[in-house]
Amino acid sequence: MKKSDIIRKRRSVRTFDGKALPLAQADRILEFAESAANPYGIPIEWKLLDAERDGLRSPVIVGTNLWIAGKAKRVRHAAEAFGYSFEKAVLFAEEMGVGTTWIAGTMNRSAFENAMAVAADEVLPCVSPLGYPAKKMSFRELMMRKGIKANTRKEFKEICFDGDFNTPLSPKKAGKLRLPLEMVRLAPSAVNRQPWRIVVQGDRVHFYQKSDKRFVAADGWDIQRIDMGIALCHFALGAEEEGLSVIFLQEDPALAVPEDVFYVASYALS
Ligand SMILES: Cc1cc2nc3c(=O)[nH]c(=O)nc-3n(C[C@H](O)[C@H](O)[C@H](O)COP(=O)(O)O)c2cc1C
Repeated sequence: MKKSDIIRKRRSVRTFDGKALPLAQADRILEFAESAANPYGIPIEWKLLDAERDGLRSPVIVGTNLWIAGKAKRVRHAAEAFGYSFEKAVLFAEEMGVGTTWIAGTMNRSAFENAMAVAADEVLPCVSPLGYPAKKMSFRELMMRKGIKANTRKEFKEICFDGDFNTPLSPKKAGKLRLPLEMVRLAPSAVNRQPWRIVVQGDRVHFYQKSDKRFVAADGWDIQRIDMGIALCHFALGAEEEGLSVIFLQEDPALAVPEDVFYVASYALS
């Protein structure tokens, strides 16, 4: 299956059908996650968890006991790196017909952290349930999706720019970058805020974050940086599908930026 089709098909699954995933399937997802590198080269440690055994709860998830979680050292760019690798695992699961939901907040976090033996210098950014989607969403799931407008995304021209932030980029003008940029547009993000902004400048594609201070914790942890990692992942997958090779760079082009927008990373197209 094409990665773009998987990305288009994926949605958060919060209502599962109650059937346990065969161990072999769960192990395949774990193995894939363990091999899912990220451009920051930051290692992530993964585990499968069991809700009953580990005392895990999420008020929004029903119908599965199986979870996957990852932790990383609390280093610079850990959030983006985690977003990139975790999303690869999410899309792998989707391809197998296994539902997931990125969960950073709606869970008993300390139980997940205990189960993952998270040390003081480590962080557990997100977890996800794994299971088969139920035929019908629960009422709570439907209401939640409505509340955060989970079925909608910002328009292409709101997030993609041509050379500078004053010039919106149309899908037509984007040419071969249309698909990779569309993949970013469709990505999941915390509370569906879609903080990514992208400036295409010659053979470079610069990723920026439109920051919302409400997402930054007292200790400086910024959940929207996870979203940026997901965006980088989706772009790379779309580029690959278009036969484009990309080189990851952290070289701020020092463009004039709108308020609360800051540089994250770039890809050089080759
Ligand atoms: C970093 C991150 C954290 C998230 N945390 C939660 C969460 O705590 N609870 C939840 O129900 N959904 C969570 N989500 C799922 C988003 O709400 C969801 O991806 C978004 O609304 C778009 O909907 P979709 O995934 O169905 O396309 C999170 C997503 C991301 C990327």
